[in-house]
Amino acid sequence: MKNIVVLSGAGISAESGLQTFRDADGLWHNHRIEDVATPEAWERDPELVLEFYNQRRKQLLEVEPNAGHKALVALESRFEVLIITQNVDDLHERAGSTRVLHLHGELKKVRSTADPSLVYDLHGWELKQGDCCEKGSQLRPHIVWFGEAVPNIVPAVTLAGNADILLVVGTSLKVYPAAGLLQHVPARVPKYLVDPNASPEYMVYNLQIIREKSGVGLPKLVADLLANHSNF
Ligand code: APR
Repeated sequence: MKNIVVLSGAGISAESGLQTFRDADGLWHNHRIEDVATPEAWERDPELVLEFYNQRRKQLLEVEPNAGHKALVALESRFEVLIITQNVDDLHERAGSTRVLHLHGELKKVRSTADPSLVYDLHGWELKQGDCCEKGSQLRPHIVWFGEAVPNIVPAVTLAGNADILLVVGTSLKVYPAAGLLQHVPARVPKYLVDPNASPEYMVYNLQIIREKSGVGLPKLVADLLANHSNF
């Protein structure tokens, strides 16, 4: 089976009701990154950081995957679908996607501040000060904050290099190293981008642009790919 690599961003979850970051009502218009999404913020005001992620986790428990997530699951009938997501929600997994690599962490997981290898599923939505790991250290959101390493970029580069088809959906391609993955996809590989606000600058990556919401554009693209899967 041919490999379809998907690079997804907040836009694919927008139709489930989760805010993106840089759209008009986005998270970064209502919070300063330096206040809630950096190691310095955590040192300065852990309560504010915990509250930011608690509110996002609480909202995640109330939303469902949408047609865009489900379309990617349908692709698995004819292709190996490797999803590389910048999203920290679990909507790809809840839709049924079986291979999801999170570049920026996972909202429903927490980890030890003393030993980052100690990662736990958080039951419920709230992480509080005083919630500690088995070694007695404060737990923190299992999120890659700005300025922190992105360990999963290493396997993601390998996946990108082995793509037979690339789908980019719902990302502004403004954050590295995630956006740099496009440069690791072989030039000969067909590349599609689904984004209602896709700007002409995307043409530089030789992307076939589908200027639609992912809940509409992805099902159409998936139907085409499935109908023509033997041509790839
Ligand atoms: N369908 C598809 N795309 C959409 C939709 C939709 N319904 N609604 C918005 N979009 C597009 C926007 O046009 C934009 O290009 O989704 C993109 C969202 O961009 P961002 O808000 O920048 O989100 P993302 O690219 O995922 O951000 C990357 O930045 O702050 C960090 O860690 C955070 O993972 C995040 C990273």
